[in-house]
Amino acid sequence: MLPSLLLTGLGAFGLVRPAEHQLPLVGDTPSSSSFGPAYRDDLLALHKNLVSTSSQSGAEGNVGDWLIAYLQEHKFKTYKQQVSPRDNTGANGRFNVLAWPAESDVGTTIRGDVDISTLVHVPPLLVTSHIDVVPPHIPYSIDDDIPTSETHINGRGSADAKGSVASQLTAINLLRSEGVLEGNDFLAVFVVGEEDSGDGMRAFSTFMEDKFPNAGFKAAIFGEPTENKLACGHKGILSCTVTATGQAGHSGYPWLGKSANDALVRGLVALIDADLGTNPVFGNTTVNLGLIQGGVAANVIPAAAEAAMAIRVALGPQETGHMEVRRRMEAALKAVDTSLAMACTQGYGVVECNCVVDGFDTIAVNYGTDVPNLSGNHTRYLYGPGDILVAHSDHEAITVGALETAVEGYKTLIKHALQK
Ligand SMILES: *[C@@H]1O[C@H](CO)[C@@H](O)[C@H](O)[C@H]1NC(C)=O
Ligand SMILES: *[C@@H]1O[C@H](CO)[C@@H](O)[C@H](O)[C@H]1NC(C)=O
Ligand SMILES: *[C@@H]1O[C@H](CO)[C@@H](O)[C@H](O)[C@H]1NC(C)=O
Repeated sequence: MLPSLLLTGLGAFGLVRPAEHQLPLVGDTPSSSSFGPAYRDDLLALHKNLVSTSSQSGAEGNVGDWLIAYLQEHKFKTYKQQVSPRDNTGANGRFNVLAWPAESDVGTTIRGDVDISTLVHVPPLLVTSHIDVVPPHIPYSIDDDIPTSETHINGRGSADAKGSVASQLTAINLLRSEGVLEGNDFLAVFVVGEEDSGDGMRAFSTFMEDKFPNAGFKAAIFGEPTENKLACGHKGILSCTVTATGQAGHSGYPWLGKSANDALVRGLVALIDADLGTNPVFGNTTVNLGLIQGGVAANVIPAAAEAAMAIRVALGPQETGHMEVRRRMEAALKAVDTSLAMACTQGYGVVECNCVVDGFDTIAVNYGTDVPNLSGNHTRYLYGPGDILVAHSDHEAITVGALETAVEGYKTLIKHALQK
């Protein structure tokens, strides 16, 4: 049992709990299993199939094929957008799954073979999440034969992000059956590769930019585990390596050489003590010194040392916030030892999302998402069931109640985004 998840299940979207099925009471103490929204079984079956189908980043083809079949059964047109294979990609490839209502005037209805070039306009809303998961695979299991909202569902991806995928599709199906969502309102896109590179969302974004250079979505809803709170955004990231260069020599005569390790250690202390930027919503910029190495033996003055670090950037804007952090890091290092050098990969500053919608609690998260990989000037929402700390662990799990709360949350967000 995971007490923290129980809270998540009842959590943030408390104003709008799913409508409960009121079954006749048997005696004075009805089993809680008698209660639940009408869509519970369909939601749990969809979630089970997604989680049971293993889909580590790079090897998402099987879950993609399953999802295509599900969508076609549920009156969607679908399109497989091929994404570059990886070493672990199986024979059926890897692809993003695009889906839109069969009744829309976009695309043909030829089963399984819609030509995306027939997409003639950009619908106002994108609903998206990812179908890849982190390793290792953890099989699906559910704790109760007759699920209640407190029942735990275990398995890789149960929260991150197949919980979001299942809740989003259930919300969409409900809104379509209620006549709220119409044919040309939205595009649903379930991407590959979110967990390690964002190549799936990048491929989708590039496609849209090429095809519609002067048009874009008005709003995009991204599904990730945010404990069913509406995320105001997430920190940016910067990955850097600091290298120190010294001069080797006999350890008994340190003045005849120069210790790269000494220089590196002093530089790293300066880095972790430096003010690298703070933001009232996102907190402090933090440095994880993930890897440190230097020298060759205890009795040799070390000639080379280096440290690799991941920095979670609390400064904006998205395009340049990380550059200010980098400037501060370089200044801190130079003040210690001018021989220290730093190289960084391309990063980004804080990624802001719209978190002002009635009925939602808010949160700021410290993990990366696909939000920055979709270009365009759309309103961004980041929301979904599950707790990120549990999500990447060896005990990834979610409650039935969290999934159902997310269905209601997505319905509200979709209507809000479309002003319906
Ligand atoms: C996704 O976006 C982030 C932030 O801009 C970037 O660092 C990353 O390289 C992108 N992924 C791809 C495949 O372009
Ligand atoms: C942020 O950093 C400052 C010092 O720079 C420290 O006083 C404060 O406690 C930190 N805040 C958090 C939330 O860690
Ligand atoms: C983005 O959209 C907002 C409001 O719709 C508008 O005010 C702004 O100028 C747009 N920015 C760009 C770069 O197009």
